[in-house]
Amino acid sequence: MAVFIDALDHEGHGICRVDGKVTFVDGALPGELAEISVFRKHPKYDSANATRILKSSSQRAAPKCAHYGRCGGCALQHLEVSAQVAAKQRILEENIQRIGKVKPELILPALYGPTWAYRHRARFSVKRVDKKGGALVGFHEKKSWFIADMHICEVLAPHVQKIFMPLRQLIPQLSNSDRVPQVELAVGETSTVLVFRLLTPWNEQDREIVARFADEYNVHIWVQPKGPDTAVPFYPEDSGLLQYSLPEFNIVHPFRPTEFTQVNPHINRILVHRAVQLLDPKPHERIADFFCGLGNFTLPISRSGAKVVGIEGSKTLIARAQENARLNGLSKKVEYAVDNLFEMTPEKYAALGHFDKLLIDPPRDGAMELVKSLPQDNPPRRIVYVSCNPATLARDTEVLCHVKGYTLMAAGVANMFPHTAHVESIAVFER
Ligand SMILES: C[S@@+](CC[C@H](N)C(=O)[O-])C[C@H]1O[C@@H](n2cnc3c(N)ncnc32)[C@H](O)[C@@H]1O
Repeated sequence: MAVFIDALDHEGHGICRVDGKVTFVDGALPGELAEISVFRKHPKYDSANATRILKSSSQRAAPKCAHYGRCGGCALQHLEVSAQVAAKQRILEENIQRIGKVKPELILPALYGPTWAYRHRARFSVKRVDKKGGALVGFHEKKSWFIADMHICEVLAPHVQKIFMPLRQLIPQLSNSDRVPQVELAVGETSTVLVFRLLTPWNEQDREIVARFADEYNVHIWVQPKGPDTAVPFYPEDSGLLQYSLPEFNIVHPFRPTEFTQVNPHINRILVHRAVQLLDPKPHERIADFFCGLGNFTLPISRSGAKVVGIEGSKTLIARAQENARLNGLSKKVEYAVDNLFEMTPEKYAALGHFDKLLIDPPRDGAMELVKSLPQDNPPRRIVYVSCNPATLARDTEVLCHVKGYTLMAAGVANMFPHTAHVESIAVFER
């Protein structure tokens, strides 16, 4: 059946109507005429694959990765990067308009970083599969729990793009090859760590095999017997912390491989620059950084001379944030606290004291309870909201603009995750 594709959904599928019913088409782009095959029917919509493109879009691009289409990591490699960013900007604006019921006064120019080889963090699933050459190590296949049969990932940092086959050869040599469900990758500026989740420990022979692997591929190996906090160096035994820097602010952030850092350090620098510029902190101001993590925004804001209070749910990250404030000579300017911000109340917020401005960078769930808790009297004048989910940003925008009296001054996207459907954005509110 041939159909005309009207639009792109938030997961990168083409959208069309077949006999009036909405159909999401994997692999087809707006403006294209495509032959499709429906693989799942739902009461309100169908899901289909494009089996042939009869008339292709001028924005169609040749996917770079050999595994594109099968691997679930990327969703948009068949669309030119500038068109990907435009689509994400449209998704952001539509969400803000439909759910937030406002229009930004200004659309910020999109932030661009490198298009390939940008990713410094990844979590690979592992499974010993004897007939597939020993083991599978990689991302899940699209819409499936199967692990993709992969040998390269073009969005990973250059020196680890081809780590898959070596890992797939390593796993079967280990005594506990069926007890290693996951390997996490974390790339820092001076070293790279692979954290092996181990359900049973390694023996002496494993140690030798793993040490040879680490030396050959120039990586450090950590092992994680239980939760992320249990990860410890394995080889070399004195493998230290990773680090990333923000040269514009003369800041260095050491971190453990299992601690949260932004996956794309290149655009992170640009995003921090823009967030601080939009916040425009002044020396006499008191500013809160909610969901502060290890202080990615807190320390750059505090360089202005403002007093900054960073609040975050993870004790481990707050301990790291305090340590990093000391290391960067900023502990007099910042204060940190652990709190579950999903349980914020007006009373708890009031107890924090007055803030002139806020930076909010929540996880995908957004910051509903926090924005609902903002005071009507003497509220923060400006809020810079960094979001990884336009739907929750839009939901929180509705409260900020229609209940709390803020104006959405500006919003725009950052191309933090090229070729994936994830939308990172930044918005500024003022009262
Ligand atoms: C998108 S990250 C941002 C971290 C930091 N701003 C950065 O740029 O590295 C969101 C942060 O929210 C924290 N978080 C998640 N749920 C939370 C909660 N209920 N209360 C407080 N913090 C939470 C996570 O630990 C994580 O550090």
